[in-house]
Amino acid sequence: MGNAKILLDEKEYELPTVVGSEDEVGIDISKFRAQSRAITLDSGYGNTGSCQSAITFINGEKGILRYRGYPIEQLAKQASFSEVCYLLIYGELPGGQQLEEFNRGLTYHSMLHEDMKKLFEGYPPTAHPMAILSSMVTSLATYYPHAHLEDRLDVNIMRLIAKAPTIAALSYKKAIGQPFIYPRNDMSYTENFLHMMFAVPAEPYTVNPVVERALNLLLILHADHEQNCSTSTVRMVGSSHANLYVSIAAGISALWGPLHGGANQKVIEMLKMIHADGDNYQKYVDKAKDKSSGFRLMGFGHRVYKNFDPRARILKEAADAVLDQLGVDEPLLEIARNLEKVALEDEFFIERRLYPNVDFYSGIIYSAMGIPTKMFTVMFALGRLPGWISQWKEMREDPKTKINRPRQIYTGATERAYVSIDDR
Ligand code: ACO
Repeated sequence: MGNAKILLDEKEYELPTVVGSEDEVGIDISKFRAQSRAITLDSGYGNTGSCQSAITFINGEKGILRYRGYPIEQLAKQASFSEVCYLLIYGELPGGQQLEEFNRGLTYHSMLHEDMKKLFEGYPPTAHPMAILSSMVTSLATYYPHAHLEDRLDVNIMRLIAKAPTIAALSYKKAIGQPFIYPRNDMSYTENFLHMMFAVPAEPYTVNPVVERALNLLLILHADHEQNCSTSTVRMVGSSHANLYVSIAAGISALWGPLHGGANQKVIEMLKMIHADGDNYQKYVDKAKDKSSGFRLMGFGHRVYKNFDPRARILKEAADAVLDQLGVDEPLLEIARNLEKVALEDEFFIERRLYPNVDFYSGIIYSAMGIPTKMFTVMFALGRLPGWISQWKEMREDPKTKINRPRQIYTGATERAYVSIDDR
């Protein structure tokens, strides 16, 4: 691919191009301002590449998603979440012994320092678990102050992935006033999480294999999604050489927003509202089309996918199977399907290529698994952890990384003299 040319104020500038392994083309404008004094303006970064990355490939037009080259459909069907964590972070699928060691690490690092329990005590029972997760992940930096050292990175990666489910489950126990359940070393990552969430000291708890498989699938589907809002936040914060824990905590906060990971909670609330209002799908599709209403169909639309989100396709199928296997009759699934049908036949949604995204069906499965609505975005965060970590690691290991610092076009007042308070 040859150079690109920009004609600005009758002067021509030549800019080098970069071509990725899937033939994606980028124009390298990093030196353009120095030559021309002009910057490129792209609010929302819809057409701006912030890095070169070898982790995840998305083709939004064709509905393709691959982690390290492996199609999401194959990983969803055949892999375990810990394998996917290893793949994303270290670049290759683990061999048998590597996976065994990795799994052992995830188990043995799952306990929290006992003092952290006191932090949980300070929150009100109504505390949103995303706020707790973000602040507890920041707090981990106080217990592991050497997280910034390169030779301590692997153990801190392990700690973070292993302790996050413990934090998540404890935040739930705190909310419902039940005693904390400690992680167990004889359980896998997914079993341990379900055990810490749902076991009570008074009786034995057996993990339902259907629920465990569904959890494994959901975590894999959420594991990475290249330079989305939370991942870009993690890279942005990490680019100042802030440590792993606080960079990830910032990503958790970004994920919480209803336009991003917070949408899974909002979808269920929306479906319940539509149901309570007599299942009038067209009314809500019309409301979503009316920009002045401020209402959007949650779980619909995506910055990158202009075709069906492949994760939504997998989850739509899985929702049927999981509800069936668990014997759960969930009217919201029917409502979601009907709403999707009405929206997909509507000219407004067709024109803008708005399809269900990963958040549209995930909440229905979480509900059937017994996960409370308030915890949905936390589940997303547990899944996204290996993605954030791998992107943070790649950024820090790339010698070309600079502190992230966009420019702006200033539109405020030009210079003016200070006016004393008596003269205003
Ligand atoms: N309902 C109604 N209209 C929508 C929706 C929606 N869910 N999504 C987009 N549109 C419309 C917009 O009004 C806009 O119309 P216009 O071109 O006439 O102005 C057009 O479609 C494009 O939308 P943008 O907001 O410009 O698209 P963007 O790429 O900036 O936003 C986003 C993507 C934030 C996901 C958006 O589709 C949305 O708000 N969806 C609902 C929230 C949601 O489900 N978020 C989860 C995303 S997946 C994830 O983060 C894991």
